[in-house]
Amino acid sequence: MFMRTVSVLALLASSSLHARSCDLAIASNDQMQFDTATLEVPADCKEVTLTLTHTGTIDAKTMGHNWVLTATPAYRSVAIAGMKAGAENHYVPADDARVIAHTKVVGGGEKTTVTFPTSGLVAGGDYTFFCSFPGHWGAMKGKLVFG
Ligand code: CO
Repeated sequence: MFMRTVSVLALLASSSLHARSCDLAIASNDQMQFDTATLEVPADCKEVTLTLTHTGTIDAKTMGHNWVLTATPAYRSVAIAGMKAGAENHYVPADDARVIAHTKVVGGGEKTTVTFPTSGLVAGGDYTFFCSFPGHWGAMKGKLVFG
């Protein structure tokens, strides 16, 4: 009976690990699109590793993509501030507390990864991820669900 209970618990633990990862992946392309509108982070993740892939062929100066995470009410103003920050700052305002996490800008055929703590997230909060490359943030965006 004891062994049976242990094996059932082990099965539950392993299936939940497979279903709910702290590693996220998102792809982007030459059509100015992300491949998902929703990313889910389990509330028990202490940190998240996100990998952004650019599956296109156009260079970063013309069709660059990054991944920026903010609370949803801040996303438009951070995107506009990012445009002003320019390419040398990967279109992200420097030392801006509203930016929870971000990657650098990548071009076609490239990928980049960022790891960030979830201490800046509240379970059930409203978070938007977007590409802050000029002209992209209106279309290239989605929701991150934590919890
Ligand atoms: Co973009």
